[in-house]
Amino acid sequence: MSIQIVNVTKKFGNLEAVKDVTLEVKTGEFFTLLGPSGCGKTTLLRSIAGFNQPEKGEIYFNKKRVDKIATHKRGIGMVFQNYAVFPHLNVFNNVAYGLKARNFSADEIRPKVSRALQMVRLAGMEDRFPNQLSGGQLQRVAIARALVIEPQVLLMDEPLSNLDAKLRVEMRSEIRELQQSMKITTLYVTHDQEEALSISDRIAVMNHGVVEQMGEPWEIYNTPVNRFVAGFIGTTNFFEGTLISEQGGQGIVQVSEIKMKVSAHSPCVGEKVSFAIRPEAFKVAQEITEAERSCFLSLPGRVNKVEYLGFMTKYDLELCRGLSVKVVSYDVLPQHLRKTGETIELCYDPQRVLIC
Ligand SMILES: Nc1ncnc2c1ncn2[C@@H]1O[C@H](COP(=O)(O)OP(=O)(O)OP(=O)(O)O)[C@@H](O)[C@H]1O
Ligand SMILES: [Mg+2]
Repeated sequence: MSIQIVNVTKKFGNLEAVKDVTLEVKTGEFFTLLGPSGCGKTTLLRSIAGFNQPEKGEIYFNKKRVDKIATHKRGIGMVFQNYAVFPHLNVFNNVAYGLKARNFSADEIRPKVSRALQMVRLAGMEDRFPNQLSGGQLQRVAIARALVIEPQVLLMDEPLSNLDAKLRVEMRSEIRELQQSMKITTLYVTHDQEEALSISDRIAVMNHGVVEQMGEPWEIYNTPVNRFVAGFIGTTNFFEGTLISEQGGQGIVQVSEIKMKVSAHSPCVGEKVSFAIRPEAFKVAQEITEAERSCFLSLPGRVNKVEYLGFMTKYDLELCRGLSVKVVSYDVLPQHLRKTGETIELCYDPQRVLIC
């Protein structure tokens, strides 16, 4: 089942919580709405579910218009942030709830519940009550409850936000596996960019009610369309300067006291340029090969801070007064490890400069 959202606007008084959003979730796709708190993710999800009525726009499931039909007729499974499991019902009855509401007989309900519990690996826990379950198990009850009605569309609103970091990482891959095995069209909401990158087929980055960019995780990360997306996804070093010369698609930008080379730019000489370079796009000179050296540009930098984390090392470097950058290096050999106060040569590939 595909979901089409066409020019949807949802207001609360004067506030446009969702502004003219158009997007399509393809059949079987795992699509994520990602954005900061208050950007309109839940509001959009609730419009799709039928919990609110947009002022403008249309919503289609498989090309059939659904925005005027009742929630329970839309064939949606939902998982919300606060689990929403009933504390007075055991696991079996929690999962059976939606089936009972749909008037399935006890004989039909039993095998469906068993199957759903097996899918979320909770078989054998039928008689437990919510207060006898861990956070991850509760979350899985909520997922089983959404899946048991065999929905064509699964809507999940920050389903992992109540869990600790380790469990969140485990559960997100379980959700992804389950979604893939069932090929269920899923619209997922999170404000966690790493979660979104790891789990999604495509992502829509939202800000103040609008979709800033839509694309596959690698597109969003590597080719952010603007400063908001570049800053929201991953860690980014931003630079601002003036283009002082340009030749063959390569420009030299005066940034504070230093000159930096960038490629793929549109402004004319004399104009302001803002660009970004990811911490991992910088390399410390000792760590790069001779071949890389020939196409990289180098800048001197002073090490202000070193954070050695084993598999990676984080540096804060000062390129000139008032201009600091964050750099990460992976798998740094002990002899290459730099110390606070040292001056080093920092290299980057101008192809990896993001103009934004
Ligand atoms: N029922 C409501 N009445 C009035 N304003 C609302 C209502 N629901 C949401 N809003 C406002 O609409 C905007 C979008 O809220 P929404 O809950 O969709 O954000 P969100 O992206 O889900 O944020 P979070 O990540 O914090 O859950 C916010 O400014 C919020 O205060
Ligand atoms: Mg929300």
